[in-house]
Amino acid sequence: MRHIMSPLDFTVEELDQLLDLANDIEANPAKYAHACEGKKIATLFYEPSTRTRLSFEAAMLNLGGSVLGFSSADSSSAAKGESVSDTIRIVSCYADICAMRHPKEGAPLVASMKSSIPVINAGDGGHQHPTQTLTDLLTIRSLKGRLDHITIGLCGDLKFGRTVHSLINALVRYPEVTFVLISPEELRIPDYIREDVLRKNNQKFKEVVRLEDALPELDLLYMTRVQKERFFNEEDYVRMKDFYILDKTKMELAKPDMLVLHPLPRVNEISVEVDDDPRAAYFKQVQYGVYVRMALILTLLEVKVC
Ligand code: CP
Repeated sequence: MRHIMSPLDFTVEELDQLLDLANDIEANPAKYAHACEGKKIATLFYEPSTRTRLSFEAAMLNLGGSVLGFSSADSSSAAKGESVSDTIRIVSCYADICAMRHPKEGAPLVASMKSSIPVINAGDGGHQHPTQTLTDLLTIRSLKGRLDHITIGLCGDLKFGRTVHSLINALVRYPEVTFVLISPEELRIPDYIREDVLRKNNQKFKEVVRLEDALPELDLLYMTRVQKERFFNEEDYVRMKDFYILDKTKMELAKPDMLVLHPLPRVNEISVEVDDDPRAAYFKQVQYGVYVRMALILTLLEVKVC
């Protein structure tokens, strides 16, 4: 039995196979429509979510399985003080696989140690969000045709944005990936990512403040929202929240084939006028999130479809 806590839990070869499977699901959805009949996924969400929870549920329903779970700590026995370890022991009796989101870093890992079903980290605090990374990798590979030889700009809240941390961890394993880290001083990438992931892997990267300076050289721009829920005071959040706004004028600085990605939800950091630009890929990214979660469920449940 296998759990997924980080994108690094898969080797590059396993990731390729997973992404190939996701592309096959996209091309042949009917082939997979009954693959998980009789199986159940539990979505245990102690933090709000639209995409991750609903895409896991859509993924299992698309595979012919069923779903159960909760969408807030308040609506579970966590509100009465039940621990994550006890909760997963209970859920292991009800479901075949589970996806857990929790505000505390490491909570899904703690759950996995007591679980008798595969546990998928669906986002733990400001730490990791591996299935968003699988979504991002599938989107980039499908729309750009490669995961190597790219210059990617990561823009916004690089301090608290767990999607950025997971994506950097995943992309350093591919050759010739250059990172342009675009953030205000206060929201720079954490030291452990800069030192232990980027420098340790001799990765090409630079840190800049102005989005306009970075845009012309990018193949991909990964925008992120300022993570309001991780700020200690409202005043700092208000000061930071509109630091970057990607609009039509800024898009004129970008390459004609640069793609704009965003894990969503968006607040103000991408103006809605950019949505009609053919380079805006963030809604396609959402659809890829369903295919890759279907592939992940099949892989972890060891279901083979011929
Ligand atoms: N991208 C993402 O994690 O979105 P949700 O918070 O809506 O799940």
